[in-house]
Amino acid sequence: MKTLVVGTGAREHAIVRGLAADPQVEAVLAAPGNPGIAQIADCRPVDANDGDAVAALAQEVGADLVVIGPEAPLVAGVADAVRAAGIDTFGPSAEAARLEGSKSFAKDVMNAANVPTAGAHTCTDLDAVAAALDAFGAPHVVKDDGLAAGKGVVVTDERDEALAHAKACLDAGSTVVIEEYLDGPEVSLFCITDGTSVVPLQPAQDFKRVGDDDAGPNTGGMGAYSPLEWAPHDLVDEIVRSVAQPTIDEMAQRGTPFAGVLYVGLALTSKGPKVVEFNARFGDPETQVVLARLVTPLGQLLRAAARGELADFPALEWRDESAVTVVVASDGYPAQPKTGDPISGLEDVDGDGSRAGGGAYVLHAGTKAGDDGTLVSSGGRVLSVVALGADLGEAREVAYAGVEKIDLPGSHHRSDIALKALRGEITV
Ligand code: AMP
Ligand code: GLY
Repeated sequence: MKTLVVGTGAREHAIVRGLAADPQVEAVLAAPGNPGIAQIADCRPVDANDGDAVAALAQEVGADLVVIGPEAPLVAGVADAVRAAGIDTFGPSAEAARLEGSKSFAKDVMNAANVPTAGAHTCTDLDAVAAALDAFGAPHVVKDDGLAAGKGVVVTDERDEALAHAKACLDAGSTVVIEEYLDGPEVSLFCITDGTSVVPLQPAQDFKRVGDDDAGPNTGGMGAYSPLEWAPHDLVDEIVRSVAQPTIDEMAQRGTPFAGVLYVGLALTSKGPKVVEFNARFGDPETQVVLARLVTPLGQLLRAAARGELADFPALEWRDESAVTVVVASDGYPAQPKTGDPISGLEDVDGDGSRAGGGAYVLHAGTKAGDDGTLVSSGGRVLSVVALGADLGEAREVAYAGVEKIDLPGSHHRSDIALKALRGEITV
């Protein structure tokens, strides 16, 4: 099959790598892609949020399967447009992508399906916000109702800061969701679904805050690892049973089936797993570590989901090795990422990534070719350095050795990705 991946990030780079390794995939194209993706796939320019343009490109290149990476095109209906052109498409419809596009819609679905999640109030004015903050008490959780690229959420003990964020969202025309604070380690579980059947991947843990020890503001994600050796052995089954399957069933019953990947973000609280968020696409950077461990051919899995054939799909196969990814972010990220800085040293981080001992490899996110052809930064999260190891300790060492070889002026990264797990400091 010929595949076309839509998007520009390290998540898409990981998906392109996975597809390229599938023996049934004879060609991988990406649109728009990035300089790293261009080393292994044919990249074509496109406005990723323009459904007609993506559908036309998919027809022009003869794609048999289109995989849509980011949320913005999904919410904009790009999957609908490509499907309408008669091409197998991995990614939910605009209607179904509201599970990510509107936090209040997601809460409504969860309530209807009896899915455990944080209590929440949707507010349209500051008085209602103040009342909800006081009803739940600190720590306060304030969320922009709409898409905000991982930066619409503020969790704080300070009532003034909570009110200020709510006011900024309201002033920008958004409604605001005030939530009960969920305590406990966070888990990301990607559930592949064709709208009926659910096939969970292995869980990963993301690091959302910008600084070590979870200091500073939320980001799109600064690193991830998998597997989660500290997690209860029945965690995945429990999440499919109590969260993913009821949500998929509820969406089908509403006449808006969700097909693609349901990203279930959870907190493992003392009262059991509760949903922190749903996303309608693979997580970034978790995808980089989950796909690093997936042995099952990715193209065949995503095509089965796109075609409604997951019920007959063979059980997934996984590597026993651990995977770690560390995100290299630009100066000023997340508040004001500086771009246009030269990136060097990447040629020294060229592991093959197919096995432990194979060395670290680099997935590109915010990079572009500068005027003289050299590589420069073009976004907040610039690179995702990935490594497999026989265990978490080895994967961490190899990933960080890779990070050390890269030079990007003013860049920063977290130094504690997977560290607590390695030290056995995570308890449920
Ligand atoms: P979201 O965009 O909804 O995933 O939120 C981003 C991050 O904010 C999450 O990964 C959590 O770390 C934190 N967060 C969101 N909602 C809650 C909550 N109800 N309780 C505690 N932390 C939360
Ligand atoms: N890593 C968090 C996300 O993809 O939303």
